[in-house]
Amino acid sequence: MGRDLALDLGTANTLVYRQGDGIVFDQPTVVAMNTTTGEVVSTGEDAWQKISARSGSVVAVRPLRHGVMTEFDVTQRMIGSVLRGVGVSKFPKPRVLVCIPSETSEVERRAVEEAVRSAGGRGVVLVEEALAAAIGAGLPIHEPVGNLIVDIGGGTTEIGVVSMGGVVSGLSIRVGGFDLDASIREHIRVRYGVAIGEKAAEQIKIAIGSAVPSPRAREAIVTGRELSSGAPREIRLGEDEVRQAMSQPVGRIVEAARRTLAEAPPELTHDVLETGTFLTGGGALLRGLDLLLSQECEVPVHMTDRPLETVVMGAGAMLERLDDYRSSFQLVRPH
Ligand SMILES: Nc1ncnc2c1ncn2[C@@H]1O[C@H](COP(=O)(O)OP(=O)(O)OP(=O)(O)O)[C@@H](O)[C@H]1O
Ligand SMILES: [Mg+2]
Repeated sequence: MGRDLALDLGTANTLVYRQGDGIVFDQPTVVAMNTTTGEVVSTGEDAWQKISARSGSVVAVRPLRHGVMTEFDVTQRMIGSVLRGVGVSKFPKPRVLVCIPSETSEVERRAVEEAVRSAGGRGVVLVEEALAAAIGAGLPIHEPVGNLIVDIGGGTTEIGVVSMGGVVSGLSIRVGGFDLDASIREHIRVRYGVAIGEKAAEQIKIAIGSAVPSPRAREAIVTGRELSSGAPREIRLGEDEVRQAMSQPVGRIVEAARRTLAEAPPELTHDVLETGTFLTGGGALLRGLDLLLSQECEVPVHMTDRPLETVVMGAGAMLERLDDYRSSFQLVRPH
């Protein structure tokens, strides 16, 4: 007990790495709450079960939006439940390294620190997700070469050129996989007058979503509720239609990567043209996104091995050698 932890508190998924053990927690960032009492009934995968069981007035709450807390109390209680779940007790308390988007404001940073501290963390260290992702992707971050990392999560896309142990230029935009789901829902609402759920939209994206046309255009069938009558209605969707529906948020991600490259110091851009871009995060799994990025940015694109785990694995690697990293990175804020 008391071993230090790395926490990737993502908009979609929460992962915890424990020193010496690796990943010990990996669950959706969702809380089942009793609306009458305000009590947290359960968290993670189990929360979905509780909702589908329709036990009384229990609702699902996603306490983060675009990588930042929108529901402080709920997040705090969720972190408490996560830390207890991995065996954190009152004493000895662990140090916790938390990954945050680079655009996080000072107020938001303090809120994260406070939430983790009150949930049982002894000291809290914040690290930028792009840096953790670069380390998790196994990039040679200490070397004087530039590497471009693009981490597409549920709520944010973190883009950074990493060199000499830090993020030398980067961009964080509040666009991620959830925005693709929202675009699909909006398209179905406008085109067919039918409402579908968030999870149904995500399933369509995973099943037939793509960033570039594929030789075998696939189809999916989804059931929604007709807005005019409230009656259930089945819709058949084609791959091209879904790609069109998602084109705006996908375009914003591609544009942000292109801008980061254009604005990086020329010698680093030159490196990236050779070494390529490393794509990670769950959103990177969208079919053909690597191809689109390589076409639009004119750089080779490599997928990381386990894109959903890259950030927490990188943060874990930092945790194992926190003192080395503390002296090398200005962007880590020790407390
Ligand atoms: N096969 C897939 N195809 C397309 N998208 C996918 C696939 N698998 C997962 N995703 C998407 O990945 C996103 C979750 O990724 P990830 O866990 O990296 O986000 P996060 O770290 O929780 O969020 P953030 O970093 O933005 O706060 C979700 O939007 C999910 O729909
Ligand atoms: Mg993430």
